[in-house]
Amino acid sequence: MTGRIRVKPCRGLRGEVAVPGDKSISHRALLLGAVADGVTEVQGFLRAEDTLHTLQACRELGVSVEEKGDSLRVRGLGLGGLKEPAGVLDLGNAGTGIRLLTGLLAGQELFAVLTGDVYLRRRPMGRITRPLTAMGATILGRDRGRLAPLAVQGGGLRGMEHASPVASAQVKSALLLAGLNAEGTTAVTEPHPSRDHTERMLRGLGYDVTVEPTRVAIQGGGRLRGGTVRVPGDFSSAAFLVVAALLLDGSEVVVRSVGVNPTRTGLLSILARMGAEVGVDLLEEEPEPVADLHASSARLRATSVEGEEIPAAIDEFPILCVAAALAEGETRIRGAEELRVKETDRIRAMAQNLAAVGGDVQEWPDGLVIRGVERLRGGRVSSFGDHRVAMAMAVAGCCSREGVTVEGTSCIETSFPGFMEVLRGLGGTVA
Ligand code: S3P
Repeated sequence: MTGRIRVKPCRGLRGEVAVPGDKSISHRALLLGAVADGVTEVQGFLRAEDTLHTLQACRELGVSVEEKGDSLRVRGLGLGGLKEPAGVLDLGNAGTGIRLLTGLLAGQELFAVLTGDVYLRRRPMGRITRPLTAMGATILGRDRGRLAPLAVQGGGLRGMEHASPVASAQVKSALLLAGLNAEGTTAVTEPHPSRDHTERMLRGLGYDVTVEPTRVAIQGGGRLRGGTVRVPGDFSSAAFLVVAALLLDGSEVVVRSVGVNPTRTGLLSILARMGAEVGVDLLEEEPEPVADLHASSARLRATSVEGEEIPAAIDEFPILCVAAALAEGETRIRGAEELRVKETDRIRAMAQNLAAVGGDVQEWPDGLVIRGVERLRGGRVSSFGDHRVAMAMAVAGCCSREGVTVEGTSCIETSFPGFMEVLRGLGGTVA
């Protein structure tokens, strides 16, 4: 992993910014657009490494995609219309890309091989390959189908009822996408509700989905109609700027047009318990709620996070750990073992990094205990190849006495190109 940034302590952040498009919604717009009838226009598409890998994969499956700035015109091939790719599909670092595409391809009469970078090839795939195989697909992969590269021979699927042991939108979505081309009903139940962008977009494109709090179901063989998908700013990118503003005295930051789907904004309720009211000015409600976020300096107190709250804040734990490291008291995060199988093991990465910059952290198998300190000292840390760890530690640098050097920052390009410029524009001292 290349790239290094040095973030010096800085005063309050001030200004108005927009963040790049939502990564989860951008992936879904491409994949659903690829199998819709007619053209899907995607506005505000995230042009970052993860989603550009999925775009390239769609092209290799025969889908024509015209790009104009951050708008895309995806010419859908219909539900069963994808073409067999001539080569291996490389999804880079994108867990959403590989898991959702494997689900979609399991329902197509074709053979495809999917792989990704060294980090993606360590992440668990059995959670999708097992149920997809039970639906009738043939999927082989390393470690008996548990790791990519994955080889898929799709087609001939039968719907089934799957009880997922983890709350995962990637598992749920992979099965819903397979279910589009399966006979009968495909249903997924999960322990807690995970993000629901797939369900919302399917409905928006005219495909009926039955939604209960922890169960979704779809009938195969319907029709998906091309349409317009507007991608809001990514809440998970905005979160770094919001927390930085809370932690730095004298801050006043507005992040414009951010997606605030309640299955994604768990961080806001956690921060409210910690004493920070982030202002949410709602601009739109359907198909995805969008708002301007207002954040200004606050004194944070410790809290506990567990259970149902975890999935709605799953990608915000690296930055929440930084907030906890500077809050008054002891923050406990439990039941968050899923963090160990993200782009890196985020429990270990944040425990090591916060300790390296003067934080007081204890690692547990399923979470962390973080005792807040007045100010972080600073030091040298690693991204562990994980974009969100890199950005969280950059924010820690803003709030330190001596500054933080983050090694391996090129991964920030997977989700938030321009992060350093945005932080600098608000008053951050980034070199
Ligand atoms: C995502 C779901 C979450 C999240 C990831 C994006 C999605 O993963 O962490 O960054 O787009 O569906 P899991 O489904 O593994 O929880």
